Amino acid sequence: MVSEIREVGVCGAGLMGNGIAQACAAAGFDVVLMEVAEEPLRRGIASIAKSLDKFVQKGTLPQAERDAVIARIKPTTKVEDLAGCDLVIEAIVENVEMKTTLFTRLDELLAPQAIICTNTSSLCVIELAAKTKRPNRVAGLHFFNPVPVMKLVEVVKTIATTQDVVDALFAFGKKLGKEPVLAQDTPGFIVNRLLIPYLLDAIRCYEGGLASKEDIDKGMKLGCGHPMGPFELLDFVGLDTTYYIAQIMYDEFKSPAVAAPPLLKRMVLAGRYGRKSGKGFYDYE
Ligand code: 3HC
Repeated sequence: MVSEIREVGVCGAGLMGNGIAQACAAAGFDVVLMEVAEEPLRRGIASIAKSLDKFVQKGTLPQAERDAVIARIKPTTKVEDLAGCDLVIEAIVENVEMKTTLFTRLDELLAPQAIICTNTSSLCVIELAAKTKRPNRVAGLHFFNPVPVMKLVEVVKTIATTQDVVDALFAFGKKLGKEPVLAQDTPGFIVNRLLIPYLLDAIRCYEGGLASKEDIDKGMKLGCGHPMGPFELLDFVGLDTTYYIAQIMYDEFKSPAVAAPPLLKRMVLAGRYGRKSGKGFYDYE
């Protein structure tokens, strides 16, 4: 039996974590946003304020509601402050050891009926669930960047997640104004399973001299109606993130479709991660 979700904890105030915290607070939930240090926490809150201001400028969010959304988010560097949460969504770095340590700690802290979710894009959810004494109450809740704008959330059911938890997460996703879809616990779930081979193929086409990156981007935007071309999207998602997800998918599937092309590896080694580093396939400096 899952009790009602009122207070939501979010671990990690980075790009995904702050977006998730914003979406939850905007939907009226009380949110505890946890980070390991003050500085990333401050940056996360600043990013939420900036995103909310866009809605205010567009006239879709009254100023008073913007302030109320911010007020519903309690920033903290203490994991103990998550103890009263009915649902905790983990969005820390994609490092399995760090995630399992956090899951074990959350399991000790939270009430037995609380649900623990991970926003991982590719790691095995059951591996994290197995570190807790409540694997039936652990699932994936995978959001998309930019979280305040993108309508989808993938609810990832492991072989241990019970249906009442899936139902509660579907209802929660809808309260956030998102459209939930159900995915199994396999690398990439639905979206990245299809998106990552596409992005890697775009790099292979460019490497092979098919066309310029600008023309490949133009082709997919104007020919297929995509909001971004593959190279714009690679820079947006992060080349390091894409490389990391590809490696995990390759490790599991051993398919050439998810083998990272040499150029991607070299760009990551060069620190050209895309927008976040100021340089990727395009220049943002
Ligand atoms: N907060 C609030 N509003 C935002 C925002 C944010 N962080 N980012 C963009 N917006 C709003 C803008 O204000 C604008 O609103 P308007 O249309 O009402 O004026 C609207 O979104 C469009 O923004 P822009 O005009 O600045 O730019 P675009 O038209 O290019 O849209 C985009 C930006 C929404 C990012 C669009 O390009 C897009 O949808 N791109 C594809 C994104 C995508 O594929 N995301 C998924 C990546 S995969 C992933 O996340 C999974 C992970 O595991 C890898």
